[in-house]
Amino acid sequence: MAVKLTALVCTLLLVLNPELTNGSRSRSRSKSSEERKHNPNACDLPSDGQVFCYCDNNERMMARDASCWVFNEIKRDDPTWELFSSQNELVKFKLLVRPQGNLDYVPTDAIKHLHHAKSIDIQYAAIPTIHPHAFANLSKLEELFLTRNQIQKIKPNAFAYLPRLKQLKLEENRISSLQVGTFTGVPHLTHLYINQNNITKIEEGTFELLKHLEVLGLTMNNLQKISDRVFRGLMRLEQLELSENQLTELPDMVFSEMSNLREIDLDRNAIQKIGTYAFAGLPRLERLSLGGNQLTVFDTYGLQGSPSLSVLDLRENELRTLTRETIQPMMNQLTNRSAYLLLTGKTL
Ligand SMILES: *[C@@H]1O[C@H](CO)[C@@H](O)[C@H](O)[C@H]1NC(C)=O
Ligand SMILES: *[C@@H]1O[C@H](CO)[C@@H](O)[C@H](O)[C@H]1NC(C)=O
Ligand SMILES: *[C@@H]1O[C@H](CO)[C@@H](O)[C@H](O)[C@H]1NC(C)=O
Repeated sequence: MAVKLTALVCTLLLVLNPELTNGSRSRSRSKSSEERKHNPNACDLPSDGQVFCYCDNNERMMARDASCWVFNEIKRDDPTWELFSSQNELVKFKLLVRPQGNLDYVPTDAIKHLHHAKSIDIQYAAIPTIHPHAFANLSKLEELFLTRNQIQKIKPNAFAYLPRLKQLKLEENRISSLQVGTFTGVPHLTHLYINQNNITKIEEGTFELLKHLEVLGLTMNNLQKISDRVFRGLMRLEQLELSENQLTELPDMVFSEMSNLREIDLDRNAIQKIGTYAFAGLPRLERLSLGGNQLTVFDTYGLQGSPSLSVLDLRENELRTLTRETIQPMMNQLTNRSAYLLLTGKTL
């Protein structure tokens, strides 16, 4: 099975990199170890080593895009990682691990050479902890994708200093909590995705420094409670995804720090109680989704301050009462024939 997978992976890579002919691969194989020693090059590693990279250009210092595979166990301080100094013009660096889980750290010794990197993507490792400055203070990095790496803990300053980072993906890991310090050093982050983790706790102030964040994805976690101060500082947030958690209650003013919110997704939680002013202070809100919860009443007044609300999804609840004040803003929109009030399912 493992052999088959490797073969498949290689086939895929060849399809994805048509310029990689068999010729270039056998040429690199024929290089003597002596030649390699005098001319170290991360894009010309022996094909039977621990790491092998496919690059858009194999000459030293010429590659812009490298997809590397970790095929065998390799130590954090293995000299192979230092060979990336021979390709320090890389803009895009992707690292995939086979078999899955066969790397338990971020290879900072390789990454620290990539001063021009804009995009780093690591997948299929098993990295229990991300240490401070793991991404080597790369001042040009814009995207960091760390999906599916079995990450459990993120130490404070793990992402410092990454002043241009815009997108951070931490999806499909095992992160259980977020603290003050987790997101220091990324002041220009606009998109943060932490969906499909195991988050039960978010410390107040965790997001405080993310003044440019527009999208926050926390779908499919284990949140049972959110306090009204958790989202402090997210003054530019437009989209908040909280579906498929275990929330039972939404306190008053819980979202009111985020006056730019356009969309809140709270589908498939266990919400029974919503504070009267839970949705107060959201003048730009366009879409509110509360489907698949346990609401029996929906009488929040806060929505009167949301004149742009055009989709209110209350499907799959146990609603018995719906007051006119609540849905007044929706009714105003309906006269413009652009609003949806979704009430099918278990309603009434
Ligand atoms: C990143 O910056 C920190 C703090 O200035 C420093 O301690 C660390 O050595 C730097 N790491 C790298 C790889 O440059
Ligand atoms: C999720 O968190 C709970 C409680 O913190 C823990 O018991 C459980 O093992 C975690 N699950 C995974 C898959 O990490
Ligand atoms: C409905 O449309 C009219 C005319 O375009 C506009 O003046 C009004 O503000 C709209 N109402 C809402 C609630 O958007």
